[in-house]
Amino acid sequence: MTGRGPRVCGGTLRCARQRGSMSGRPATRAGMRLLGTVLVLSGMTVSCGGSSRAPQGIPATPARFGIGRIARPAEIRVWDIDVRADGRGLPGDSGTAAEGARVYAARCASCHGVDGVHGAVAPAPPLVGRIPGDAFPFATDTTAVQTVGNYWPYATTLYDYIHRAMPLTAPGSLTPHEVYSVAAFILARNGIIPSSTVLSARALPGVRMPARDRFVPDDRTGGPQVR
Ligand code: HEC
Repeated sequence: MTGRGPRVCGGTLRCARQRGSMSGRPATRAGMRLLGTVLVLSGMTVSCGGSSRAPQGIPATPARFGIGRIARPAEIRVWDIDVRADGRGLPGDSGTAAEGARVYAARCASCHGVDGVHGAVAPAPPLVGRIPGDAFPFATDTTAVQTVGNYWPYATTLYDYIHRAMPLTAPGSLTPHEVYSVAAFILARNGIIPSSTVLSARALPGVRMPARDRFVPDDRTGGPQVR
C-alpha cells in the first residue's frame, strides 16, 4: 500500500484487503489515515475471494452471543395475554352488563360516546350498531360503519382487545372482572346477549356474533385465482 489510496479490484472495495499490500509504508499523515480506512474496510469484509471464512484476526460470528438470559416464567406470564377465538387464554372471573355500565361510564364513554353509538370522539369508533337483517355491505358500501355488533366474528376478541389495548390511555389497567363486565355491556348494548348474562371463560366463547360466518380463511396462494 502506498499513500495513494485503497486499491480496488473489479471496481468494488470487496477485494481491497486482498490486493492491498500492507508491507509498504505510508509516507504521510494522509497515508496513515488512508491505511486506517483500508484496515476498517477490510475488517468489514466478510468474504473476499469467494471464501466465507472470517478475515484473519476477526472472530467468526458465534452461534450464540452469550448475552441476556432465559426469560423467567413470571416474566413470560406478563406478556402472555392473548385470548384466542375459541376462548383459550381467558382468565377465571366473570362480569355482567350492569357492572359493565359503570366501568363503561367511567373508563370508556369519554371517547366512545355515552352509549357506544352517539358522541364517539374520532378516532375512537362507535362500538354499538347492527345493520338491519345483519347485512354485511362493507365491501361495496364505504359509508357503512363497522362496529363490534356488525363486524366482529368472535366475542372472545372483545376480551383480548379491551384487556390489551383499552382504555387507550391506560391499557392493561382493567381487572379481569372489569373486562368481562364491560364486554358484557357492549354485547348487551348491541343486542347480542341479554343484559342478565354472566360472562365468563365458559360463557364468552359460546356467544355467537352476527358476523360469525362472514369471514373465511384466505387460502389464496397468488396467481390467476387472485380476485
Ligand atoms: C382516550 C380515548 C379512549 C378511551 C378512554 C377508550 N378507548 Fe377504546 N378506542 C379508542 C381508539 C382511538 C380506538 C381505535 C384504535 C385503533 O383503531 O387502533 C379504540 C378502539 C376500541 C375498540 C375496537 C373497536 C373496533 O371496532 O375496532 C374497542 C372494542 C374499544 N376501543 C373498547 C374500549 C373500552 C371497553 C374502553 C373502556 C374500558 C375504551 N375503549 C376506552 C379510544 C379510547
